[in-house]
Amino acid sequence: MIKLHDKYFEPFISKQEIDAAIDQMVENVKADFKEETPIFICVLNGAFMFASDFIKKFDQPCEISFVKLSSYHGFSSTGIVKTLLDVPDNVQGRSVVILEDIIDTGKTVKELVSMFSNINVKKFKIASMFYKPEVYSGEYNIDYVGIEIPNKFIVGYGLDYDELGRNLPEVYQIKEN
Ligand code: IMP
Ligand code: MG
Repeated sequence: MIKLHDKYFEPFISKQEIDAAIDQMVENVKADFKEETPIFICVLNGAFMFASDFIKKFDQPCEISFVKLSSYHGFSSTGIVKTLLDVPDNVQGRSVVILEDIIDTGKTVKELVSMFSNINVKKFKIASMFYKPEVYSGEYNIDYVGIEIPNKFIVGYGLDYDELGRNLPEVYQIKEN
């Protein structure tokens, strides 16, 4: 068990399980992008570790770029998502695959879809390492999902609790007592 700020977390998903899920996603994406060079767009900050592992396994031509969004959860959860680093301008006519850390309510996904809706891309797909199907209320059908998890708060593998825990190589879930 570990402690981050005031909360305790226990081991939940191992590095092996994460690796196996990424291998599967990479195979699926490779099959869908055979004769082209996709641009992977890593959603900062949370997806940096997933994006790094994903593209190391993706042994076909590809590019990587970044966007940064911030959502406001918590008490006054307004669901506002602010763009801190916008869509790169070389995506016109290209095939884009968004790499997200986790899909929860879907507010971030909605914002990402709208960010790309006025750009003429060839293909647009979303890949998420983790996905909470019980919570997701968006209309967009997530194209590639690594691991589905129940509606519990997790940390590690890029995901944070108030900025702590991103460096953990495995995933921990909050311990409710
Ligand atoms: P959504 O916009 O509600 O889908 O939330 C997505 C964002 O909320 C993710 O990119 C994370 O930054 C954060 N988030 C959602 N669930 C968790 C969690 O269980 N642990 C850590 N961060 C989370
Ligand atoms: Mg995030």
